[in-house]
Amino acid sequence: MTNFGNNPAFTGFNAPFRAEVDVFDLEVEGELPAALNGAFYRVQPDFLYPPRYANDVPFNGDGHVSMFRFVAGHVDFKCRFVRTQRYKAQRAVRRALYGTYRNRGTDMPEVRELSGGTANTNLILHAGRLFALKEDSPPVQIDPNTLDTLDDYCTFNGKLKSRTFTAHPKLDPMSGEMVGFGYEAKGDNTDDVAVYSLDKNGEVNWEAWIKVPYVGMLHDFGLTQTHVTFLVIPLVVDMEQMKQGGVHFIWDDTMPTWFGVMRRGGDGKDLRWYKGPTRMATHCMNAFSDGTKVYADMDMAEGNQFPFFPNRRGPFDFRKASGRLTRLFVDLSKKSDTYDLEVLHPEIGVLPRADERYWSLPYKVGFMPVMDPTLPLDQAKVGNTGLILNTWTRFDHATGKSTSWHTDPVSGLQECQFVPRSQNAPEGDGWLIGLCNRYEDMRTDLLVLDALHLADGPVATVRLPLKLRNGVHGTWVSGDHLASGSAAA
Ligand SMILES: [Fe+2]
Repeated sequence: MTNFGNNPAFTGFNAPFRAEVDVFDLEVEGELPAALNGAFYRVQPDFLYPPRYANDVPFNGDGHVSMFRFVAGHVDFKCRFVRTQRYKAQRAVRRALYGTYRNRGTDMPEVRELSGGTANTNLILHAGRLFALKEDSPPVQIDPNTLDTLDDYCTFNGKLKSRTFTAHPKLDPMSGEMVGFGYEAKGDNTDDVAVYSLDKNGEVNWEAWIKVPYVGMLHDFGLTQTHVTFLVIPLVVDMEQMKQGGVHFIWDDTMPTWFGVMRRGGDGKDLRWYKGPTRMATHCMNAFSDGTKVYADMDMAEGNQFPFFPNRRGPFDFRKASGRLTRLFVDLSKKSDTYDLEVLHPEIGVLPRADERYWSLPYKVGFMPVMDPTLPLDQAKVGNTGLILNTWTRFDHATGKSTSWHTDPVSGLQECQFVPRSQNAPEGDGWLIGLCNRYEDMRTDLLVLDALHLADGPVATVRLPLKLRNGVHGTWVSGDHLASGSAAA
């Protein structure tokens, strides 16, 4: 194969990993909580082959899943590429066949009938099935114990009519349902969104089709006990740019945001769109309803947060890319056609998470990787992957307070994941786990912190003898859902 060249997106710590590895019994510094029994899965966009387009973006890598299986104070490691249709086609000919990010017109003719999905964004377990997800395509089902790919184009027994499905479905802890949606559901630049829920057994039990005010990225959404919420942001689809071989999105700062709220279980005709200022927000920490009031907490910034998606005008602006946890709010009993927003905490960060036992419910506690507040903003960047995040912060919305732990200044933190101490533990009582980039060693650690005592630092550091790239999202699956014993071959 050819090499990846000198593109900073594919060199240094960002160099593709490409390997599939089993490591039995990773080295541990400190003591792993014996009660941690389960698996932490996370996925990174990796590149089996060098991309064909110089303007390709990190988000276009092949889905590469890591599994850390915790059992009896030990951790076994396994990582595998997801066998997507794309991965298999490219592997068969030992070169890239697909084009630039979400631009099917740049794909080689022989793969145009195949799925373009990379399964590189998130993982979720529902009804015993583990899905690897990418928002431009249907879920890919993988085996939670072996990471083997079981279904490279999962349509939920033929019920998923949308051509796409979000990387951020939500689980309703009360009903056991999984709720998700697909945008650009009838193809590129279509304004159709299909919303689905699956019952606790994995059968589709609700489908509704709606329209968005304009076609922009709909990366995540909010789920409450009664409603779903969407935020349309001005990272818009640009067909002209795509015709010229460009990526799917462009940032248009002349456009407003639209916050959509609709009833769960209905036909979508009650959907209301509320207008708001130009903002970027990708992830929802949590959402909840209180009577006719609907709240969604998102990491929200004034401008484009992705340097690799071009601005329609002006250069990328790190200051405007700084996102803070912001509460979006509407009262459905009022006639207003705008939504309110309130910044909840001052820290700059991305990738918010909640205690998932409280998804869709009123909640107090959340977590987010944030930027080291001691670093000047213009220095707080790394390569083309955005802000240096070297702090994990716990937010208490009831008190407005936060507590943090910073790693050393030459390391970086990836997304953190909350694991409850037990199913009945109070909200936010448990552990925070996630990956730490050791830039100087070109190596990765898995950190375990006590979520009630973040400032004390890791209770255990699990040393990997290898480097994983910056990943996107992960999930924790309790040991009840997994085969007992070792995960490593
Ligand atoms: Fe995401």
